[in-house]
Amino acid sequence: MNQETKSSWRRDDLKNPHRAPDKRRRVQAMFSGIAGTYDLLNHLLSLNLDRRWRRRAVQLARVQPGQSILDLCCGTGDLSLEFARAQPDLAEIVGVDFAPPMLARAAQKTARLCRSQKHDRCKTIALKWLCRDVERLDLGENRFDCVSCAFGLRNLQNLSAALKQVYRMLKSTGRLVILEFALPDNQFLAWAYACYFRLALPVIGSIIAMDRNSAYHYLPASVSTFDTAAQIEKLLGKIGFKNLHVEKLSAGAVLAFVALKT
Ligand SMILES: C[S@@+](CC[C@H](N)C(=O)[O-])C[C@H]1O[C@@H](n2cnc3c(N)ncnc32)[C@H](O)[C@@H]1O
Repeated sequence: MNQETKSSWRRDDLKNPHRAPDKRRRVQAMFSGIAGTYDLLNHLLSLNLDRRWRRRAVQLARVQPGQSILDLCCGTGDLSLEFARAQPDLAEIVGVDFAPPMLARAAQKTARLCRSQKHDRCKTIALKWLCRDVERLDLGENRFDCVSCAFGLRNLQNLSAALKQVYRMLKSTGRLVILEFALPDNQFLAWAYACYFRLALPVIGSIIAMDRNSAYHYLPASVSTFDTAAQIEKLLGKIGFKNLHVEKLSAGAVLAFVALKT
């Protein structure tokens, strides 16, 4: 079996990709394969709304000068860099991802941002990109003021293990902010969204990303079979997170979860 076949999502896997025993390996290969076109497709397929969702996540994080941020599943770094733009006096931003080509893009974008006159102040922020599996991450207890994760949760194999580690790494005053896709409540919108997600998106993805690993078939399948907001809230509560709050963005197509450690 060649590498491409081993990493691709087959039709049967896509009935519920979260149940694939080798989900972690497939997800890693998939994102490594689409890193070059990931940003372009993100902006195109979301009609540029993804920028607005990340800006909202940064507002919800309420970060203050001198704070430390951990951005899990940071991919090409868009959320981490949004933190840097919004609050240039942060002490550090650590972006973690296990797909090296995604992190390479993040590093390129950091260099570009820091060269630009407009964002001169971001030079003062210590932005670090770490290539690690977030399910086995330990960067110290009570270390971060905020942990964020944009569109990463759904891709994890062991959600509970990752969130327990997040809880440990957050300071007692720390805040968790998660963005994740969901299905809109409104039936008409849910139908329109499903048509777009299941029909248009895989075709556009295949053309632009030459999607050999079926990433843009995996996306709608992984959203429709993922935990509901209530299940995620329940899990966060069980781990110990308090003051859970869920905000619907773009008519519920994206959910922002905010939780405090204590
Ligand atoms: C949909 S992308 C989101 C990227 C970025 N946060 C954004 O908003 O565009 C999901 C990212 O999660 C990463 N990822 C998935 N599982 C991971 C794991 N166990 N450890 C580290 N990174 C992981 C993938 O490599 C991918 O870059």
